[in-house]
Amino acid sequence: MYFSVMSKINRLRNKRLYLVLVFVIIMCYFMMDSCMDEIGMGWVTNLKVTKESEKIKCYDLKVENVIQNLESSEVAINRSIFFVETSCHNEEFSINPRQACAIESAAKMNPNFEVYLLIPSPVTSLEGMKAYFQKLASYPNFKIRYINMTTFFVKTPLEHWYQSGNLKYSYWPQSHASDILRYTLLWKFGGIYMDLDVVIMRSLEQVTNFAGAESLNDVAAGIMSFSHNHKISSLTMNDLVNNFRGYDWGWNGPGVITRSLRKYCGDCKVKHMIEKGCEDFIVFPPSAFYPISWEEWAKYFTSDEEVYNKVMDQIKDSYAIHVWNKHSVKTKVTIGSKQPYGVIAQKYCPMVYSSLKDFF
Ligand SMILES: *[C@@H]1O[C@H](CO)[C@@H](O)[C@H](O)[C@H]1NC(C)=O
Ligand SMILES: *[C@@H]1O[C@H](CO)[C@@H](O)[C@H](O)[C@H]1NC(C)=O
Repeated sequence: MYFSVMSKINRLRNKRLYLVLVFVIIMCYFMMDSCMDEIGMGWVTNLKVTKESEKIKCYDLKVENVIQNLESSEVAINRSIFFVETSCHNEEFSINPRQACAIESAAKMNPNFEVYLLIPSPVTSLEGMKAYFQKLASYPNFKIRYINMTTFFVKTPLEHWYQSGNLKYSYWPQSHASDILRYTLLWKFGGIYMDLDVVIMRSLEQVTNFAGAESLNDVAAGIMSFSHNHKISSLTMNDLVNNFRGYDWGWNGPGVITRSLRKYCGDCKVKHMIEKGCEDFIVFPPSAFYPISWEEWAKYFTSDEEVYNKVMDQIKDSYAIHVWNKHSVKTKVTIGSKQPYGVIAQKYCPMVYSSLKDFF
């Protein structure tokens, strides 16, 4: 009797220990799988339309749009480069010289790819842009198109998500519009997505399926290439549908590619992805697209000869530079000066650069 009670207690205790053990193992697995830094805040949801969402109201304007629609049938699969400009252009459409430079450099260095500037805001006049477009038009591979957000996501994994108005829950709706567009474009057509604050210095026509790390811990979303129907594309779309966070600026851009690559590679560490690669997917080290980190963005604008020489040496093998527009937008480059950004622009977007008088 005594023994049987004791052994029962023991068994119960063992059972409890066993349960605790199982729980710990599950937690460990979960934490490893999600790479630690993804835990937290997940329970915060924002299902309110933000006041910032006013900034994308223009997407739904019913106006006489003068820009040609992007037709799926015209897009060269795997051989297109996409730039996306998601701000509102209620009357006049305009881009600035630096954006035009990014486009020119991409068109110049990748003559066999189509280069698209895509805008979701309907536009009633292109007059203000005549000067640039005449220049960019000398690149036969350059095209500007309108993306109708109402129809663009139909028959994509984001169809229901977009129709449900999820983008309006964002605090940075234009930036998040750019995020969802880049991943959806690559899912639909394959090809290369590029931010508008880059200068492309080498051809990317011969490289497919890549992204670039911006540090040893983060993969960035500023330049990415997926071939059509690549598994990474469906991983990124799933991530957006399931995990979109309107209250987190970087979650839906760099976060999406970083998490998707962790799944695809079966490895948490970006450092490992850079060193060993991931099957057929290349994660380039920061030197490829982000040779100067965002903390050091001012180096692209330096007038100090020593810093200039260092920068030029640091970028000499890079595919592109990324000038961190968010930080650098107000810093000027004087035409004819020896500031790194200006010297690079003069070489890789000569038409745009030479059309400017005072500042770039
Ligand atoms: C976008 O598509 C919707 C649905 O077809 C249409 O009603 C709307 O007029 C289009 N917008 C523009 C600016 O063409
Ligand atoms: C796009 O690239 C993928 C992967 O290389 C290939 O399987 C597919 O056939 C390509 N599509 C076209 C239309 O070239």
